[in-house]
Amino acid sequence: METQIYQSNQLNIKTCARLLQEGEIVAFPTETVYGLGANAFLPDSVKKIYEAKGRPSDNPLIVHIADKTWVDVVADFVPDGAKKVIENFMPGPVTVVLKKKKIVPDSVTGGLDTVAVRMPDSKVALDLILEAGVPVCAPSANTSSKPSPTKASHVYDDLNGKISAILDGGECEVGVESTVIDFTGEKPRLLRAGGMALEKIEEVVGEIEVVRGSTVALCPGMKYKHYSPSSEVFVATADENAVGRMVAFYEKCVSEGKKAVVIAMEENARDFDQNHFYSAGKSYEDYARKLFSLLRQSDDDGYDIVIAQGVEEKGIGSSIANRLEKACGGKFI
Ligand code: TXA
Ligand code: MG
Repeated sequence: METQIYQSNQLNIKTCARLLQEGEIVAFPTETVYGLGANAFLPDSVKKIYEAKGRPSDNPLIVHIADKTWVDVVADFVPDGAKKVIENFMPGPVTVVLKKKKIVPDSVTGGLDTVAVRMPDSKVALDLILEAGVPVCAPSANTSSKPSPTKASHVYDDLNGKISAILDGGECEVGVESTVIDFTGEKPRLLRAGGMALEKIEEVVGEIEVVRGSTVALCPGMKYKHYSPSSEVFVATADENAVGRMVAFYEKCVSEGKKAVVIAMEENARDFDQNHFYSAGKSYEDYARKLFSLLRQSDDDGYDIVIAQGVEEKGIGSSIANRLEKACGGKFI
């Protein structure tokens, strides 16, 4: 199959919407990462997503909507907390898990009786879904276990030949996936830290349960390997000696003949070898936006080792910390 790349203009959005209606799968930009979409009401199309990504079929997909009223099309019951999230933060980088309606196929929800719903804050995504006229289920548009794609070229690198089309809307603004909150239990529970800070959501819904250090995967997707480039990733725990440890570790790698690169905040740039340094930017927002892209860059540039600066777990820092932990598989320095 030839994968077509379409620049995002009204004509191409229409073309991609038609492909979705006809049962093809199409990658599209959102404010978080690129998604790989299918018409959520066509189980055969949904299956194509799992095949293209190499995704385990028990890992459910997020259903993307273009209008808040569509929540009731797919969800059976919307508790007050979820209503507040929808009112205050949608469109935006947040996903709510709700009891599903029968109309949502099992292939979308991995057989669960719940459905994850999100309204992306991206004009291109919303136009595409509106034009398609149906909810669009989509995981991130990467090969399973690879870092999520934040540019059309990342999608192309992973899925060329496996999907019909990529709608290119430029670089994603947020860069990490949505925050996922489960509203089907007694208390709202965080399933995945993400682009919307938990603290902000708690301001409107009250306390959200966070299970830390659990070995049990909270949502099916969390038990799988994630965010890994081919290079080996090491993360320096965020404390006052982090930069010193990174410098020492970098020198050790080089002395062993390995090709290593450092990812650190711009303010620490002068402490590192400029030829093998990727800036994470000036803020955690920058770091989040750039992280997946830099992990992919490390492969393109042929590095064996990535040494990444850790972050404090607050605000969007929590989602960066989560992605770094998964990328390094617990290898902290
Ligand atoms: O920002 C995002 O959320 C991006 C863009 C494309 O919208 N999507 C995304 O999808 O990250 P994906 O499939 O890579 O991650 C969705 C996560 C998975 O961990 C999945 O297990 C969980 O949400 N999930 C989906 N439906 C669920 C459900 N019904 N119950 C519990 N977890 C669910
Ligand atoms: Mg994903």
